[in-house]
Amino acid sequence: MIHRQVIHMSADGNALGVTGGDGDRIRVLADGSRMPALGLGVWQTPDGLECEQAVRWALELGYRHIDTAQAYGNEASVGRALRDSGVPREEVFITTKFHPRSKDPVLEAERSLERLGVDRIDLYIIHWPEGGPTWAWPGMEEAQRRGYARSIGVSNFSVGELDQLLGVASSRPTVNQAQFSAFEYRRGLLEACEERRIAIVGYSSLGTGRHLGDRTVAEIAQRNGRSAAQVLLRWCLQHGVLVIPKSTHRERIEANGQLFDFALSDEDMAALDALDRTGGTDAAREGGWW
Ligand SMILES: NC(=O)c1ccc[n+]([C@@H]2O[C@H](COP(=O)([O-])OP(=O)(O)OC[C@H]3O[C@@H](n4cnc5c(N)ncnc54)[C@H](OP(=O)(O)O)[C@@H]3O)[C@@H](O)[C@H]2O)c1
Repeated sequence: MIHRQVIHMSADGNALGVTGGDGDRIRVLADGSRMPALGLGVWQTPDGLECEQAVRWALELGYRHIDTAQAYGNEASVGRALRDSGVPREEVFITTKFHPRSKDPVLEAERSLERLGVDRIDLYIIHWPEGGPTWAWPGMEEAQRRGYARSIGVSNFSVGELDQLLGVASSRPTVNQAQFSAFEYRRGLLEACEERRIAIVGYSSLGTGRHLGDRTVAEIAQRNGRSAAQVLLRWCLQHGVLVIPKSTHRERIEANGQLFDFALSDEDMAALDALDRTGGTDAAREGGWW
């Protein structure tokens, strides 16, 4: 079973899936950067007070990783909340995503830096492989060379697209952000990424809220004295997948972050694994959704 492997192995040799210890909370990427395994996602979080509040709460509650994108239109709010929080910049890991309908990753990185009000993005990823998986990469590498981004990576790339990219890359992608949940258990993609030392950051791990009402998840949650959201997120962590749940409610942001003081049993992991509806695919997405 894959999750056993992941529990005992990670890029830095630390255990990722066991409770306690830094190794549970931090993923060391292939380029040596340290990425918190838990972040706050801010897709569909309106720019302005709502976004600022969510990010500020998350930082107060101990989150040290925020996931935004040029397409979300809320980088400025993320930046404001970061400054207002008083948490030192170097303690917070900021991801933003290059909008692939723009032309120039370097220029767009400069604009992101300005909106965020920071000198460097911790992780800059191509949001999806529109127009093919390779054309934007030289610009991503240039953004990294100029110091605009510490790490670079991709999102929504299937294995074939990753391999095309690896064929031309001087600086390898460290992350592939992909839809990943018990219901979208992309086992083929996960295994291929592990072999290529690319970390998967899972998005929509709560199904954008849709998976929270599932009966199997509810039973496991009840047995463990946890919420459905905590169970779904913990399942990702035990598979070595980083999580970025979104919420604009303080109490949910708090609860969603309480993932490191319990572990799911092999039986519970197997029951959740069985919810997969992708057939263990190595694809990052179903069909062409853009
Ligand atoms: N790379 C990509 O293409 C891509 C695509 C999609 C998402 N993402 C990233 O991944 C992040 C997460 O994915 P997502 O936004 O699709 O959704 P998600 O994290 O799967 O679920 C968020 C939804 O669940 C609700 N929720 C959160 N915690 C809850 C809890 N404890 N109890 C009940 N409801 C809860 C939220 O509502 P409230 O806000 O009202 O609490 C929201 O409606 C995004 O924000 C974004 O940063 C990336």
